[in-house]
Amino acid sequence: MKTQTDMRIGVFDSGYGGLTILAKIRQQLPEYDYIYLGDNARTPYGTRSFDVIYEYTLQAVRYLQAQGCRLIILACNTASAKALRTIQQHDIDPETLRVLGVIRPTVESLSTEVMQGSKQSLHVGIVATPGTVSSESYVIELKKQNPALVITQQACPMWVPMIEAGEHTSAGADYFVDKYINEILAKDPQIDTLILGCTHYPLLLPKIRKALQGRSIRVIEQGDIVAKALQKYLQRHSEIERELSRNSSCTFLTTESEDKFQDSASIFLKEPICAKHVELAN
Ligand code: DGL
Repeated sequence: MKTQTDMRIGVFDSGYGGLTILAKIRQQLPEYDYIYLGDNARTPYGTRSFDVIYEYTLQAVRYLQAQGCRLIILACNTASAKALRTIQQHDIDPETLRVLGVIRPTVESLSTEVMQGSKQSLHVGIVATPGTVSSESYVIELKKQNPALVITQQACPMWVPMIEAGEHTSAGADYFVDKYINEILAKDPQIDTLILGCTHYPLLLPKIRKALQGRSIRVIEQGDIVAKALQKYLQRHSEIERELSRNSSCTFLTTESEDKFQDSASIFLKEPICAKHVELAN
């Protein structure tokens, strides 16, 4: 049993994508101790059914809680869209564990800007996994904030597998980046804001920008948004913040082979890391 000041922050993703969130959280809040868990052996989640995504995500949440996490960020839009609410409502005791997602903070940050009128955005595009798109989570949340928004979604089923395979910088990846960007722009040529609604996608950003061909479209990445939202959350919840340990450490766990994860994650994070293999089960 972990003592009160020995609690860590868990960051979970189906694979490497959550590292784009973890890096920004650690920049913003370097003092805390983190555990990153990537379910790389079972990625992608985005093409799986609701039941499977829920089951896998719940296994990860339980595992991270057993490792001493008081707070877990689902750094995965698919898990946030498909599993977060059920887990919050049925599977955890908020007195001992809080689980947060990445969709709500993304929508809130965008709508704050829109509400403030600082950056006009009426045509919003969302690129995401098939699971996130079919959940309609972004559409529902954005419409709640501003019913006048014109929202267009595009599922990009090939992007996560390309990134997990380390092919995201290869010339071959251009084909699928261009394909999905062209498809969403054909559906709404007036898009002025494009949400990268999958935590893997920032790794494709140079190719996404190239595919946008100089159009003035604001591309929204989630890392900074989630990091700032977490900072505010901890300010609001001092009872949780007090329980967190502060050794600036990060432990990396993966369901894949340690070597494979270490090699890829070190490239994504631009620093050498050491990972431990774990098994997730009920
Ligand atoms: N990074 C996950 C997300 O944000 C990718 C999901 C997948 O494994 O397909 O949706």
